[in-house]
Amino acid sequence: SGGPLVLGIETSCDETGVGVVQGHTLLANSIASSVEEHARFGGVVPEVASRAHLQAMTPTVERALADAGVTFNDIDAIAVTAGPGLAGALMVGVAAAKAYALALGKPLYGVNHLAAHVAVDQLEHGPLPRPCVALLVSGGHSSLLLVPDVATDVRPLGSTVDDAAGEAFDKVARVLDLGFPGGPYIDRAAREGDPAAIGFPRGKYDDGTYDFSFSGLKTAVARWVEARERAGEPVPVADVAASFQEAVVDVLTRKALAVCREQGVEDLLIGGGVAANSRLRALARERCEAAGVRLRVPRPGLCTDNGAMVAALGAELVAAGADPSALDLPADSSLPV
Ligand code: KG4
Ligand code: ZN
Repeated sequence: SGGPLVLGIETSCDETGVGVVQGHTLLANSIASSVEEHARFGGVVPEVASRAHLQAMTPTVERALADAGVTFNDIDAIAVTAGPGLAGALMVGVAAAKAYALALGKPLYGVNHLAAHVAVDQLEHGPLPRPCVALLVSGGHSSLLLVPDVATDVRPLGSTVDDAAGEAFDKVARVLDLGFPGGPYIDRAAREGDPAAIGFPRGKYDDGTYDFSFSGLKTAVARWVEARERAGEPVPVADVAASFQEAVVDVLTRKALAVCREQGVEDLLIGGGVAANSRLRALARERCEAAGVRLRVPRPGLCTDNGAMVAALGAELVAAGADPSALDLPADSSLPV
């Protein structure tokens, strides 16, 4: 197949991801995760993540090239996440990408992590409708974007004012003594519970913005569980998980569909680690169908942080004739889209 052959490097959080794509075709997506090293802290420790990226970088690049069946010489461009993310973690990927670009004499493209979460869907479902709306929900971000063109025009409409959606899942899982990261545990526990058992607060539900707030919900769950424990009563973990999860996905899907309706957009994309949530997928499907909106959700392995998403956006930039980044490209922890 055609299109530029791009190597993509992602190190914004705890996954060292290296992907190889050709145009919209995925050739390799190699990942080394330091998630196990963070588990006992109940959250990602930046210094630990940075050191793990350093150790994993070279082997992960080599494995991606081998999986793709290509060599360094075949690559047309190197793409790397320039931000947003953890500063020290980003720096490892950016430094490596610069070194490869310089040594190989290939152009370097610094890309935005959020736009890359959108671009990755093209590897699975083909060219993105223009425009589309994207809901990105992970441990680090919860954003609504209007995307007229993923390479050149991505407009932020709203984001969380406090915790990210995945962060709320992780913190509530900790309150319930479930594992880390908490999302998959809550998802599983909630299947046995009643989502209407407890009426947890839905932050910024009807405030007329495209912003989210999850910290009040997290606190409400913690207080509710504490009250139970103080009274010496058992905590109904499945009901708490289901009721909490319902509050999160209700707000996420409601606001995503409000954007579609108010901006006149008929295609919604959901990405980020929380897009793996089974209730979010089901409710999004239901509400999109009722609203006449087409829904695109990449498979879980492409939703969580990975290198293929960076390569996919890099390929899009090459195809759009975008200027490469300079070799003094900075890592920017708060890079705007
Ligand atoms: O995109 P990701 O791998 O990394 C970043 O944070 O950027 O997302 C990880 C987040 C974690 O907070 C994790 O708990 C959440 O995604 N997550 C889920 C599920 N699977 C992963 N949240 C809810 N339900 C899930 N099934
Ligand atoms: Zn991410």
